[in-house]
Amino acid sequence: MRINCRVCGGDVEAALDLGRQPTANGFLRPDEIESELFFRLAVGRCDRCTTVQLLEEVKQEVRYHDGYRYQASGSAGHRRHFAENARRFMDTELTGPDPFIVEIGCNDGVMLAAIAEAGVRHLGVEPSGNVARVAAAKGVRVLGEFFDETTAKAVRDGDGPADVIFGANTICHISHIGSVFRGVDALLADGGVFVFEEPYLGTIVDRTAFDQIYDEHIFYFTVRSVQAIAAHYGFELVDAEPIWMHGGEIRYTIARPGRRVPSASVARLLAEEHARGLNEPETLERLRVIVEGVREDLTDLLRRLKAQGRRVVGYGAPAKCTTVTNFCGIGPELLPYVCDSTPEKQGHLVPGSHIPVLPPEVFAADYPDYAVLFAWNHAEEIMAKETGFTEAGGRWILYIPTVHVPGG
Ligand code: SAH
Ligand code: TYD
Ligand code: ZN
Repeated sequence: MRINCRVCGGDVEAALDLGRQPTANGFLRPDEIESELFFRLAVGRCDRCTTVQLLEEVKQEVRYHDGYRYQASGSAGHRRHFAENARRFMDTELTGPDPFIVEIGCNDGVMLAAIAEAGVRHLGVEPSGNVARVAAAKGVRVLGEFFDETTAKAVRDGDGPADVIFGANTICHISHIGSVFRGVDALLADGGVFVFEEPYLGTIVDRTAFDQIYDEHIFYFTVRSVQAIAAHYGFELVDAEPIWMHGGEIRYTIARPGRRVPSASVARLLAEEHARGLNEPETLERLRVIVEGVREDLTDLLRRLKAQGRRVVGYGAPAKCTTVTNFCGIGPELLPYVCDSTPEKQGHLVPGSHIPVLPPEVFAADYPDYAVLFAWNHAEEIMAKETGFTEAGGRWILYIPTVHVPGG
């Protein structure tokens, strides 16, 4: 399987294939199983600009709609992070007489709510109606559209240039990346910045976090590939800052060429990537071998525990859980349920693997012997909250970076 690179038209060949998978946030009701859509989840690397990307994709309207299940404000850590982001923008880029910030994929307003509260001019562009309404209820001004060149030009016509265009865990979701950058070109003030925070291929490799690979993540950026992408569309990468979100991401800052002095961090991270060969074709090949080992270890462990009569459930139903359960072939026979605090997911099934999602109260009411922590990026928050489970003798199962059971 091969495609032309979405950025530069170069050759992208499948290097890591996670098999037949559904849309990762498509939590469904039992009566919707019949109509569930599947596609081939495979990534490859462009032989020209090095951008790692999905080969097949699910149409954006199937992924983002009025029933989009992901709500960014669900975790205290995320709320804190985005409140800090808002504060930082207001202290740095948004200090002019009438500053204007646009967020691509503002979701439930986790970042823009603080900006709205401070009375700063803003706009969230958010196509998923249900989460957009949650943002609007927080006082956020929302445009219910997909961000692209056309929407960006319409925003520019109505509101004037933006000092900041921001996106978090959204830019890597958008297949039409050329249209996004042409839109940024139309909308961004001459001295403005386009800032986005996205999962980092370096972290995925370091932690074997293959569960970051799913239909919504079209691109798996590196500093090198983002630099190439920015240059391809007439911009310059001026900063790259590692952040801890989702287990380790990078916040990229892009500006018009020559408008900002690139930070030392860009050169440092580029050198680091070069030294470890992150942008070389071997990276995905190596990851493939390790990931296949994790699949074997995890399914072996779950089968063994089941044979011993132990009760094992899942904790957290992040999108990541869809990739892992479908790739490993784990269904309700091995994990009778996963618990998750998101009301919209409860009472639904994990896409593809059809494991029921139940509220955390079910977990607390009758602790199992083991719990697979799918929401591993929230391990600290969850383990602190669920001390009752371990005090009752329960054990966590983690599969990142390898399958292990802390404390026994
Ligand atoms: N920024 C939040 C939400 C990320 S989820 C966070 O970091 O937690 C990604 C969001 O992007 C979803 O709400 C989805 O509806 C939105 N989205 C997807 N494609 C988009 C596009 N083309 N333009 C704007 N938003 C988009
Ligand atoms: P998230 O980290 O947003 O990952 P993804 O982008 O892969 O969907 O998802 C975390 C999930 O874990 C989300 O569905 C909420 C759930 N969760 C709990 O059930 N309990 C908790 O205490 C926390 C922090 C999260
Ligand atoms: Zn390319």
